[in-house]
Amino acid sequence: MCGIIGYLGTRTAAPLLLEGLAKLEYRGYDSAGVAILERHDEAPTTHRVRAAGKIAHLVTALEASPTNGTHGIGHTRWATHGGPTQDNAHPHFSEGVSVVHNGIIENHAALRARLLEDGFEFKSETDTEVIAHLIAQALKSHSRLHEAVQASVAQMQGAWALCVISERHPEEIVVARHASPLLIGLHDAETSGHATPEVFVASDVSAILNHTRSVLDLNDGDVATLTIKGAKITDVDLRQVTRRTRRITWNAVAAEKQGYKHFMLKEIHEQPKAIRDTILGHVDGDNIFSKRNFPLPSPHGRVILLACGTSWHAALCGKILIEQLARVPAEVDLASEFRYRQPVIREGDIAIAVSQSGETADTLAAIREAGRLGAKTLSICNVVDSSIARMTGDVIYTHAGPEISVASTKAFTTQLVALSLFSVWLAGRTSSDNGEDEGARDERERALLTTIRNLPSTIESVLEHRERIQRIARRYAQYRDMLYLGRGLGYPVALEGALKLKEISYMHAEGYASGEMKHGPIALIDETMPVVVIATEGPGYEKVISNLEEVRSRGGRVIAVATMGDTQIEQLAEDVIFVPPAHPMLQPIIASVPLQLLAYYIADQRGTDVDQPRNLAKSVTVE
Ligand code: G6P
Repeated sequence: MCGIIGYLGTRTAAPLLLEGLAKLEYRGYDSAGVAILERHDEAPTTHRVRAAGKIAHLVTALEASPTNGTHGIGHTRWATHGGPTQDNAHPHFSEGVSVVHNGIIENHAALRARLLEDGFEFKSETDTEVIAHLIAQALKSHSRLHEAVQASVAQMQGAWALCVISERHPEEIVVARHASPLLIGLHDAETSGHATPEVFVASDVSAILNHTRSVLDLNDGDVATLTIKGAKITDVDLRQVTRRTRRITWNAVAAEKQGYKHFMLKEIHEQPKAIRDTILGHVDGDNIFSKRNFPLPSPHGRVILLACGTSWHAALCGKILIEQLARVPAEVDLASEFRYRQPVIREGDIAIAVSQSGETADTLAAIREAGRLGAKTLSICNVVDSSIARMTGDVIYTHAGPEISVASTKAFTTQLVALSLFSVWLAGRTSSDNGEDEGARDERERALLTTIRNLPSTIESVLEHRERIQRIARRYAQYRDMLYLGRGLGYPVALEGALKLKEISYMHAEGYASGEMKHGPIALIDETMPVVVIATEGPGYEKVISNLEEVRSRGGRVIAVATMGDTQIEQLAEDVIFVPPAHPMLQPIIASVPLQLLAYYIADQRGTDVDQPRNLAKSVTVE
């Protein structure tokens, strides 16, 4: 995935690039680097500084080797080809050309072999270095950098967001985009307070938001030359094109920690607001999605949900909600599996991509494939105008605001709200086909809407239990393994609870359907394996209690998430976290919150890097 930033103007570039990289660090943080053009006697030279490890190491390296150049590019890396070393850190360099890249060049081995034959020397193990050499080679026959980049990307297969500077072209940055995110930030004196023209480029708007709110989105296949006068863009057919400029309205302060120890804790606490915003965005009085006209599955059509990671867990809940409420068959696929298993799509199927970032490469590829095979497409995204949002026929935004912590929290619960609203909306359009009584449907819809509207205050009341959950977390922080069990909608909640714990605490945690425990995990249960049981009221409650007894009788310690007023649970579990009663179909939204807090406090107790866990990245833009 990786994060990219570029600047061209009259201000010293290094601090601006570092500031942007710090904002992009969630995209990868195993090494970082900058290349800045310096002018000595008018002949520009490249000042390239790179460091393995986090951006703090790059800051130190730049302090030791400062530069006041006003034109440069920067990169924070998440390793794919080649380990996280200084040699593999970007920018890569060839004959005066510096390149930063996000994505994967799939034919890099063939290109490398050819470039080696042509006499180029490789200094890294990365796929990116071929791009630097390709451009340097193309500059032998093209005088303009723009044309050299066009000629180079024409030879590449895979995915890229590129940012290129060249000593021979000191007045420009050339960028290219194909299947990896990249946007241009135009001069905005009002936001930056600087009257002299300048231009930015970044993987994501948070990197440049302190300096410009005026951004230009690139399309796949675009190559753009940026100068202080603005951007000249050519498309995949080499025609000159214009792209839409948009104004960013959200607040940069929202992306700061606001006094919380970690972004994750802040984002957990933002859930009442995030959910309120999601509801406000889509519910008007008793009308859900009143002005929207989403595609409907045909009478024999299905809904196919495609997602990765936490979003996949939301999609698993979505399947149950859609089937139970709308009686429409629904399937869920891991996006990374979908397009390689020759999926069957029939006329009248609709495919829904669920993605916080809207940039996950697997999800993007899967929804593209579903569309190609004839499904109508829809997405549930958080990031406005992201690639997935733009690719699908229609989009439901979750309005969670920027999510910085790598471990997803408010994006997940708002996805669940969006999926619940969509299921209720769909039920309203399919119930007559199913012969459902309209009165009963309306009554159920009203009950669900009431619970949905109450969710912000319900979650506030769960958050009030934070100290109790913190105390419980202290008791379990030193264990090695943890099992999470749930049934029905509680099963994806268990999967998500386990994922949160392993992502940020590095404890081994597994989510299991509680009825399946007897087919395997029961063999693991003893006093060293605490078991978290989602035991909220609703269908299947009695059966979950039986599974809980099975755990206890084998010496397992149980932490139960249960509904307030449940008196028997305290006799059965070592620790109980109570959540308020709610409609069982919406209980996953509520029951997930204490599990987020439990994972957070255990990780904090273990002293891990909660917001940037090792090896992970927020937005995975490689396959
Ligand atoms: C990464 C993140 C996860 C996220 C997943 C899917 O693995 O670390 O938190 O759930 O990608 O991301 P998306 O943006 O598509 O929801």
